[in-house]
Amino acid sequence: MATLRTNILGIEFENPFLLASAPPTALVESIDKAFEMGWGGAVLKTITPDDLEMIEASPRYTIMKEKGRVIGLQNIELLSHKSVQYWVDGIKYLKEKHPTKVIIASIMSPVDRMAWHELVLRLNETPVDAYELNFSCPHGMPEKGIGMAIGTTTEISTLITGWVKDVATKPVFVKLTPNVTDITKIAKAVERANADGFAAINTVQGFMGVNLDTLEPNLNIDGLSTYGGCSGEIVKPIGFKCVAQLRQCSDLPILGMGGITNWQDAAQYIALGSDAVQICTEVMINGYGIINGLKSGLLNYLEEKGMNDISELKDIAISKITTHENLNKKYHLHPEINKEVCVKCGKCVNICSESEHQALSKDDCQIKLNKDNCVGCSLCSHVCPKEAIKMCN
Ligand SMILES: Cc1cc2nc3c(=O)[nH]c(=O)nc-3n(C[C@H](O)[C@H](O)[C@H](O)COP(=O)(O)O)c2cc1C
Repeated sequence: MATLRTNILGIEFENPFLLASAPPTALVESIDKAFEMGWGGAVLKTITPDDLEMIEASPRYTIMKEKGRVIGLQNIELLSHKSVQYWVDGIKYLKEKHPTKVIIASIMSPVDRMAWHELVLRLNETPVDAYELNFSCPHGMPEKGIGMAIGTTTEISTLITGWVKDVATKPVFVKLTPNVTDITKIAKAVERANADGFAAINTVQGFMGVNLDTLEPNLNIDGLSTYGGCSGEIVKPIGFKCVAQLRQCSDLPILGMGGITNWQDAAQYIALGSDAVQICTEVMINGYGIINGLKSGLLNYLEEKGMNDISELKDIAISKITTHENLNKKYHLHPEINKEVCVKCGKCVNICSESEHQALSKDDCQIKLNKDNCVGCSLCSHVCPKEAIKMCN
């Protein structure tokens, strides 16, 4: 029998599914409900010093849909509006009621050693399992020198990680931003400052467009808008890349996230190097109840693969990722067209001819391949509306 139990830095997880720091972890009573429903843990909505002023805008979210389904979210939300004392009491309450659940305190403060120390020292008094340093929120609040303003510079990230490590009595994860050219530079810097692990990714800075009827931005705050953090399915490839790059540059534990909507996404994050995963947007759209499908799906998958636990899945895909230079350039595939399925619509022929190679042609009876012109790019197989084209050796 496979198990979802796992252990990271000595912390026992009953399953690897954590709520990410976000609205689903902004209230003690909702986290209580999520734990009852089966989540393995929660990263609290980012806690800040009580004197940090935060004024929210309305609305603060907009979405991107495809065929009625939400595929992405842009938010300009700031951090927890609850006091440090609220969280100190909340952590004690939650841990007493749910001793097997993992609670990670996400924290953020301006670049001030005393302020970081004060926050950590107060939380050290609680049974919190670990800290997550939010160096990565794109809109909260760079003008005050916090969030992504920290996580885009190696110097400040190193400095603050060091300050926190000086006093923290629990493991310290650094939550990294994807909004940098090379995430591994910041990762290596905070590892040198003794960070115990990484969390990635925070939201991807973006802008969700303009309404062509009103000519106003889709995220319209009294006629104006701003860039925000994008999350959900649309950011998944960026999250996958960042987690794989982190795993390739370090052996520290990784809490992977970004666009997880189902167990298959979670399994891929684990295969790419995550020790556990976090989820935010999918929970905001579909509720805590998604945990049942996540747990049963991943458990069944491990059993089908004959794996005992996620440690056997972890990192498995990493050795398959290399540089373009190292790829075997002698490997060439060619399309094979299933004549019984092909409806001869000619889409593959048009796309091939308009995208450089002119390897496909169509006569009355069939689509023909000119192998000499075919570079094996595979575009035809992706655009075929009937999935009649397979790339073969
Ligand atoms: C509305 C909203 C609020 C968020 N607030 C925080 C926060 O306070 N602290 C933090 O570290 N990340 C915050 N995040 C980022 C998420 O924790 C997560 O990193 C990101 O959304 C990617 O995961 P997802 O695609 O599953 O949503 C927030 C995300 C959203 C959508």
